[in-house]
Amino acid sequence: SIAMMPTEVPTPNRVMDRRQPQPEGPRGEYRGTPDTDPAVAANREWAAGIRARMQDSQLGVQTIADTTIRSSEELDQLIVGAETAADAWTAMPLAERVEILHRAGDELEKRRADLLEVMGAEAGKVVEQGDPEISEAIDFAHYYARSAELLQQVDGAEYVPAKVTAVIPPWNFPAAIPAGGVLAALAAGSAVIFKPARVTARTGAVIAEALWEAGVPREALRFVTLEGRELGQQLLSHPSVNQAILTGAYETAELFRSFRSDLPLLAETSGKNAIIVTPSADFDLAAKDIAYSAFGHAGQKCSAASLVVVVGSVAKSERFRRQLLDAVDGYEVGMPWTEGARIGPIAVPAAGKLLRGLTELEPGQSWMVQPRQLDEDEKLWTPGIREGVKPGSEFHMTEYFGPVTGIIHAETLDEAIEIVNAVEYGLTSGLHSLDVDEIQHWLGSIQAGNAYINRVITGAIVQRQPFGGWKKSAVGAGTKAGGPSYLFGLGSWLDAPVSA
Ligand code: ALA
Repeated sequence: SIAMMPTEVPTPNRVMDRRQPQPEGPRGEYRGTPDTDPAVAANREWAAGIRARMQDSQLGVQTIADTTIRSSEELDQLIVGAETAADAWTAMPLAERVEILHRAGDELEKRRADLLEVMGAEAGKVVEQGDPEISEAIDFAHYYARSAELLQQVDGAEYVPAKVTAVIPPWNFPAAIPAGGVLAALAAGSAVIFKPARVTARTGAVIAEALWEAGVPREALRFVTLEGRELGQQLLSHPSVNQAILTGAYETAELFRSFRSDLPLLAETSGKNAIIVTPSADFDLAAKDIAYSAFGHAGQKCSAASLVVVVGSVAKSERFRRQLLDAVDGYEVGMPWTEGARIGPIAVPAAGKLLRGLTELEPGQSWMVQPRQLDEDEKLWTPGIREGVKPGSEFHMTEYFGPVTGIIHAETLDEAIEIVNAVEYGLTSGLHSLDVDEIQHWLGSIQAGNAYINRVITGAIVQRQPFGGWKKSAVGAGTKAGGPSYLFGLGSWLDAPVSA
């Protein structure tokens, strides 16, 4: 029940727990640290301190005031300046560049508390969600630093970085996604123009400050907020911008392409992701993983589980149903500075598609858990689960980007896979099954960039689980963030004479 959930000791995601900050000693695998452990108490106190700062956070405000672009001329100057700066950044000895990138990881670590504070203030991220995200940002720094060295070791071809890369991240992962894009482009030898999402610009500013402090020249990393939509279009259509890294809705990627069709784009876009549960599954684990994947960060993750496909007898299992209800009960909703809140507010008041998803059932559907709006400005919603979702229905196919998921029934695993693959996106996908044959079969036929077995389907880990989509979940190069090919796609290759 809610009252018994420890506040700062999340249990559903073992991978995430590995990354909880430990005041002393190395971070190890999570082994169910008892509530009485002094490290747990210290962790709680640390999180409470951060929560106390969220409400009056002013971090990043000054940087934004200093870097806002208001006119077309100013933006043009900035882009041309970045193009010139690229030469010096590319020409910097590799070892020096790599050292700066590793230092960037250290500077981000130093700002862990600051980042949590500002992400809570701007994006409604609770500490439990923000903390592993900052770990991911730090991982990107060290991983891409190492990857940069590999670029120089390819025989027979010379790597030529794109001079200027525009990085346009979303608001839902305001630390890890911008940091990943910016660090990758810098590691590849490109100068970067980093335009944060409007909602989370201050978090972006704190990241830029960390990278400048680490030694990334201000000319090579431009942090800009733009006043007016036209400036965004100008940035992406400018002939001196050589490529763009985007994470956002599929429609946004299409819009960017309409600005300039020949602009190389690396875009990670939308998802409508499912977890399949077969009768052989560990129901307790499945229920916890579904709740976390569907409702962590109020379901505002491209990777979120917004469908659950129950196979055969699972549909009628009282035990599964009970466990799912219990798991959802553990998610208290509140502002991120409120003790006990595990789901924060949604970023923008529910409207349009999302409001429909939270309030309107389609024929044949019923609420297993009905969402409730808790505040007047329509941002705090309790999670919702609908039952009786029909294959081919609007709920089956639509990404809502909020705290709502739906259950579809399939007779067989094959039918379940068919239902999941019928979606036009292919980002993440999950299977809960303890049957090796089922697992092998699913792995061979599921259409998703990231496929997860018996775990949550959000929270990819740099290097271990490079992240990226398939079908309409990716536009452009389609390489995976935090994976071995990402930097290779951020430049071009010239044949070079093979040295004797
Ligand atoms: N990389 C993020 C995740 O895996 C989107 O959840």
